[in-house]
This record gives sequence, structure tokens and C-alpha cells, in this order.
Amino acid sequence: MTCYLNGRFLPIEEASIPVLDRGFIYGDGVYEVIPVYDREPFHLDRHLARLARSLASVRIANPYDVAAWESLIRTLIGHHDDAGQSIYLQVTRGVAKRDHAFPKDTPPTVFMMSNPLVTPSPALVASGVAAVTATDNRWFRCDVKSTSLLANVLLRQFAVDHGGAEAVLLRDGFLTEGSSSNIFVVRDGIVATPSRSHLMLTGVTLDVVADIAVDAGIPFEMRDVHESEVRSADELWLASSTREVLAITTLDGRPVGNGVPGPMFHRLYRLFQDHKRKCLP
Ligand code: PDD
Repeated sequence: MTCYLNGRFLPIEEASIPVLDRGFIYGDGVYEVIPVYDREPFHLDRHLARLARSLASVRIANPYDVAAWESLIRTLIGHHDDAGQSIYLQVTRGVAKRDHAFPKDTPPTVFMMSNPLVTPSPALVASGVAAVTATDNRWFRCDVKSTSLLANVLLRQFAVDHGGAEAVLLRDGFLTEGSSSNIFVVRDGIVATPSRSHLMLTGVTLDVVADIAVDAGIPFEMRDVHESEVRSADELWLASSTREVLAITTLDGRPVGNGVPGPMFHRLYRLFQDHKRKCLP
């Protein structure tokens, strides 16, 4: 596997970073996960725009412009045979003597790797997944795609420990998102998801699903979603770059709706697959 590190493409086994990298010491960095279908990065512009926003939020200078990022990402894709890839990239504040305050004149560390993209199997799409609710105990900048993911890691493991594929996060009685996905609630034929805020990541998949729903004339709302709506939903979905759109069919061990992926999910899932094909050159 070839990766990219600070200006060089090299085998991942040969890539190393100094232990004083602030990504290692503080989780002081941001990242992106970009799905690649048929060797074509999916909505790359949106991922790079979000990366730019994350970098600006944490005051790390963006090391490349959009054209340079695109060229590096396409080169990385070219180093791998898989038609479907998952590009992981991260930028940290670089290597410096340990001190919480920003170091001066330290170049950022830029790392990228590609893994085969494993999208949910047809069986999983047909069955849906189990999820559990958990209290969203993260910080107030969940809109930043930060590599400091300890809270998300613990929440996801909480779900796994309780037989779930995802933790559906609730803060002060309202839905925020999943531990590594965005969440949609369907009630009475209306799809709802929380409005963008600092309490959640604006998922690229979320935005794509929103566009698809609106274009198809599916009633779609971005607004506060109360816990009671989550618990009484006809359908629940999760969405992310690696899991696409998946139905949540049990929540805290109780069936969601009829306990099988609902009609709105099937419609949206088909539209999403059509959209993927339309995005290819
Ligand atoms: N995570 N919310 C959180 C907390 C996430 O970690 C993710 C994705 C999303 C969905 O974002 P997108 O649709 O842009 O992938 C929402 C990635 C896949 C990860 O950390 O691996």
C-alpha cells in the first residue's frame, strides 16, 4: 500500500512520523475520509471545502490549494488497483517540543492513505443495523472534523458493547448525530435531520442525501429533532462516506417502525445509487 507523507509517495511500512508530532501528542489535527467509486473521488469539492473550513477553525494553514489536493489525491488513487477506495487524509500542526500553545513556523504534517472501500453488503442494506442511544458528551466544536476522536471512539465502542453498529447521540433531549455518521428520522412521510450547528459534523453524505431528497420531491426538513421523535420514528437512517445510507432497524433493542428498512429508505437508497453513477465522468 502506497501512502503520501509530507511531499512523498512511499510504501506505508516505510512511512513514519516523529513522536513529537502534535497529532500524536495532542490529537492536534483535522482529517477527511473521501469515498472513491470507479476510481473517481465522490464529491471531492465538498470534502476539500470542509477540510478548508476545519483547518481554518483550528488555525492550521491549508498546505495546498484545491488543484494541488486534487492532483495528490488522484495520484494516490492511481497507485492502487481497487475501483472503490477510501481515501483518508489528515493534517496536523506538525512536530514541535511539547507545549499546548501553537509552535511558531512549524510546517504541518500531511498524511494520506488509500484503503479498499467496503460499502455495506446487499444483505446489510436489506436487514438494516441495530443502534443504541447514548448521551452526546463531546465538546462544542463537533463541526470541526478533528482527529481528536476519543469521545467518538468511546461512544462507538459503547454501541458495539451493546450489540449495535452505531450510537445515536442525544444532547439535552435532542438528536445530534451518530458517533461516526449523521442520523435521519422519518415520521409520517417526512424526513428530518438536525440543522447544521457546532454540535454536529456537516456530513458530505448528509448534504448529498438532502439534495437527492429535495430533487425527488421527498418532504425534507433540517430542524431540531426531539428525542421523542427519534424514539417514535417510522424509520431511522444513518449516513456516512463509508456506510453510504443504512437503515437503523432496532434502537435500544426495540424495533424501529416495523423493524425492517422502510419504504422511504428503499426509495432514497435507490436514488443514492443512481446519483453515484451520475457522478462518474
Ligand atoms: N466519519 N458525523 C461524524 C461524527 C462522522 O465521523 C462522520 C463520518 C459523519 C458523516 O460525514 P461524511 O458523510 O462526510 O462521511 C458525521 C468518517 C467516515 C470517519 O470518521 O471515518
